[in-house]
Amino acid sequence: MFSMLRAGLFASALIAAAPVLAQSTAPAPEAAPPAATAPATETAAPAALDGKALFRTKTCVACHGKDGAKAIQMYPDLAGQDAKYMLEQMNDIADGKRVSGPDARGYPRTQGMKDIMHLVNAEERAALAAYLASVPAPKPRPLDPAPDAARLADGKKAYTQNGCQTCHGADGLKPLATYPVIGGMKRDYLVLQLKEIRDGVRVNGKTKTMLAFAKKLDDAKIDLIADYLSQIERSPK
Ligand code: HEC
Ligand code: HEC
Repeated sequence: MFSMLRAGLFASALIAAAPVLAQSTAPAPEAAPPAATAPATETAAPAALDGKALFRTKTCVACHGKDGAKAIQMYPDLAGQDAKYMLEQMNDIADGKRVSGPDARGYPRTQGMKDIMHLVNAEERAALAAYLASVPAPKPRPLDPAPDAARLADGKKAYTQNGCQTCHGADGLKPLATYPVIGGMKRDYLVLQLKEIRDGVRVNGKTKTMLAFAKKLDDAKIDLIADYLSQIERSPK
């Protein structure tokens, strides 16, 4: 498929070169091959796609915000997330491998995104993931009521005691390669994911590696850990 794409680019480069040839020299068949191949070789390498422009034109902004960060608590921030992780999630949501519970209107929360991911090809998904990973993460969203220092400390303790940092790193900021950053993510999004991973609703990708850890958490512990993680400051890259 990649080579087909390259072939496509190659062909369009040739087409693009054609009028120039026609202008410069009156049809001189012998001169045509070198003139046509020179620009084609240069453009044969796939042009780098503009992830930022794609993010805006592919309607991602409607749900994820202008630079991959919007205040809606149920929707994940994407700015500063791991690129490989995001690419896998895009593919899994598009293919129906990652599913979710319902939103307020009763539709699966992944549905709206699934519907549009089919309009985004593999190369575009990779460019989107690379762009989003490069954007500085947003500041923690204030909670109402704001958790006090004692609650945040209890949350940190629960996070550590339940083994979360083995994979997600201290404060959820230094995950193993290709695992998600969870420090500084939105509280409600974290709660939803933790419950759905624990309850076997979200089973895509590598989620089963953390199943045993999630199963030890009751709802109150999940709320506690999510309060704490959501208030972690992610320093801009
Ligand atoms: C209609 C709303 C909507 C649109 C449009 C949308 N998304 Fe999403 N996206 C979501 C929701 C909601 C989730 C989280 C689903 C869940 O709770 O399981 C999500 C999850 C993701 C994730 C996984 C995040 C994580 O931390 O696991 C990525 C990556 C992502 N979206 C990228 C995109 C990109 C890129 C686009 C544009 C091509 C896009 N989304 C368009 C609603 C949307
Ligand atoms: C053995 C490794 C491991 C452990 C331990 C672990 N996780 Fe995870 N976690 C993962 C992986 C891998 C993913 C991504 C799954 C995927 O591929 O979709 C994930 C995903 C998540 C997500 C969803 C992130 C997103 O953006 O959607 C949250 C929230 C989370 N983990 C929280 C925790 C918490 C809290 C703990 C401790 C109770 C924990 N994890 C323990 C490996 C682990």
